[in-house]
Amino acid sequence: MKQFLSISDIPDLPQAIRQVIELKQNPLSNPLIGQGKRMAMVFFNPSLRTRCSTQIAAENLGLKTFTLDVGSQTWPIEFRLNTIMDGKSSEHIKEATMVLSSYFDLIAVRSFPTLKKKEQDLSEFILNSFHQHATVPVINMESATQHPLQSFADAITIKETQITKPKIVLSWTPHPKAIPHSVANSFVEMCRFADYDCVITNPPDYDLNPEITKGIPVIHQQEKAFENADIIYAKNWSSFQHYGQVFKHHREWIINQKKIDLTNHAKFMHCLPVRRNVVVSDEVLDSENSLIQQQVENRVFSAQYVIKKILDHVSS
Ligand code: CP
Repeated sequence: MKQFLSISDIPDLPQAIRQVIELKQNPLSNPLIGQGKRMAMVFFNPSLRTRCSTQIAAENLGLKTFTLDVGSQTWPIEFRLNTIMDGKSSEHIKEATMVLSSYFDLIAVRSFPTLKKKEQDLSEFILNSFHQHATVPVINMESATQHPLQSFADAITIKETQITKPKIVLSWTPHPKAIPHSVANSFVEMCRFADYDCVITNPPDYDLNPEITKGIPVIHQQEKAFENADIIYAKNWSSFQHYGQVFKHHREWIINQKKIDLTNHAKFMHCLPVRRNVVVSDEVLDSENSLIQQQVENRVFSAQYVIKKILDHVSS
């Protein structure tokens, strides 16, 4: 694997899922593959799970990591080309990536969307700037439109339920803030590549990017979508059409036990962090059908698979 910018960088996702489930039996079976190599983990935004799981995955492979919080630990970066840098940014992406490529063998980047500049976000301006200027492989730790490490972990978690041909419902849920589309987008793409049946349910104002959801049913009545569901994946996102806006909080879209009772004893999934009793009720999140801990654990193994495949490529 040359880089990991989206889930499509995994050539055969069903096979990769099987390989990760095997890897989980012995996660320390390749302790030397990263020996003598280093990975920079560049964060423009906060993280708990991605920061920890990616670092643990690297350590399992003998790879050293350095975490850099842009702005507080590094100089603010300018991304525009041919610009006069007399504003607040002190370092250009060309020099920043030259420096990082000199010191590190891989660069992992987290950079959320603006949710204001639609075209810039859709172009993956920051992630692609790293990819374009770095001379070492780049890993996406959640970008403007994608969170492929999360969706890969979710694919593994779904496989581990051992439910044959599960009916999966990706449900919009309420949230007080404007939230990116990246987790939902990557979840939909993952279902397509993993050959999982997925249905999306969201209020009419919150349809995702139609280019992403093409061919996937979108149902605007949540309770109808939940009928006979085996897996409910909860996530909030802001409007795509009226980009980044939140019109109405639709508190009634919370996932509670009454709604789970409409399903086929559905498992509950969420990528975390989650706002209790806004997105999902305590009783559902704390129930034995909640898969959040398995999702968290699988974040380590999905990252480990990706890093190992990239190191294999670098060494070949
Ligand atoms: N799910 C996820 O990516 O969590 P963090 O934002 O804490 O990394």
